[in-house]
Amino acid sequence: SLARKTSTTGTSYLTLRGLASESAPDRKVAILGAAGGIGQPLSLLMKLNPLVSRLALYDIAGTPGVSADVSHINTRSEVLGFAGEEQLGKALEGADVVIIPAGVPRKPGMTRDDLFNINAGIVTSLCTAIAKYCPHALINMISNPVNSTVPIASEVFKKAGTYDEKRLFGVTTLDVVRAKTFYAGKAKVNVADVNVPVVGGHAGITILPLFSQATPNGNLASEEIEALTKRTQDGGTEVVEAKAGKGSATLSMAYAGAIFADACLKGLNGVPDVVECSFVQSTVTDLPFFASKVRLGKYGVEEVLGLGPLSDYEKQGLEALKPELKSSIEKGIKYANAN
Ligand code: NAI
Repeated sequence: SLARKTSTTGTSYLTLRGLASESAPDRKVAILGAAGGIGQPLSLLMKLNPLVSRLALYDIAGTPGVSADVSHINTRSEVLGFAGEEQLGKALEGADVVIIPAGVPRKPGMTRDDLFNINAGIVTSLCTAIAKYCPHALINMISNPVNSTVPIASEVFKKAGTYDEKRLFGVTTLDVVRAKTFYAGKAKVNVADVNVPVVGGHAGITILPLFSQATPNGNLASEEIEALTKRTQDGGTEVVEAKAGKGSATLSMAYAGAIFADACLKGLNGVPDVVECSFVQSTVTDLPFFASKVRLGKYGVEEVLGLGPLSDYEKQGLEALKPELKSSIEKGIKYANAN
């Protein structure tokens, strides 16, 4: 049933599509940047989610076509397209979950931080509108650099007087998706059974997969764990290079974004034991934001879970990532307070 434990197993509506959910409450999901590389397949996947009753697709342009197309799919939700800033308020009104994949992606040779200047402005304007039109929505921030855009969003909401740390999430699910796939391949276990927490942040060495806690136990050698860690950290760059200038991960990101939004909806609906990793306000370390396992509930974050036991290699990784993550967080906060 839908009340099944989701944890980080990736069990999703994709496998439960046949279940009509007449009893599920009305839920509105808005996607900002819906006509983009991530936005389009994410719109498709959210249209397949039976927990969604209204799907609002917003972008600066191109959304009428995407929404007309997606709206013909015979699933529960009503699809509405909104294009241009003057329609942003209508797109957001009444939203329970707002997913933000708006902004420019990387090209080969770029770091996520190279996107800062453009995407910080986009995120600031979108969050200003969220504070006005749907201040109680859960925010799923996909736009990079997540390590900075989440702190920017928090400052925008604080200024507007609407900040609630339980409702702001940086989407790091793709790191978990990659860690599971790469681990299953190396450990030769069934990928559907794999669980791996990924903590820290969402860029380079700030991405810290905890393979020592991976299940099922694959008995991997330390060199194998180190190679898997590096591959998970560089997974985004692997795709950027393969796309050779045509952007970054879009299809796997849409999948990951759909998994995370589904977990948020289940939490809102009162499904117990919904746990996903996410970059949230945190006291798990001395940094103000940190990604770790989070239990989702009726008001968003129900509990930020601790890191659990770390191997020596992971302890070193944790110490090594802190300065970079700290400076990315501070850069976001500084930007928000100067703009
Ligand atoms: P894209 O360029 O294909 O699409 C971005 C969309 O955002 C475009 O349709 C554009 O019109 C729209 N947009 C720009 N300004 C906007 C505004 N003010 N309001 C609404 N929409 C606006 O880019 P793609 O590949 O979809 O990537 C989007 C973002 O997601 C990038 O910042 C990328 O770095 C990030 N990303 C994050 C990942 C994660 O794991 N969190 C993984 C992959 C990408």
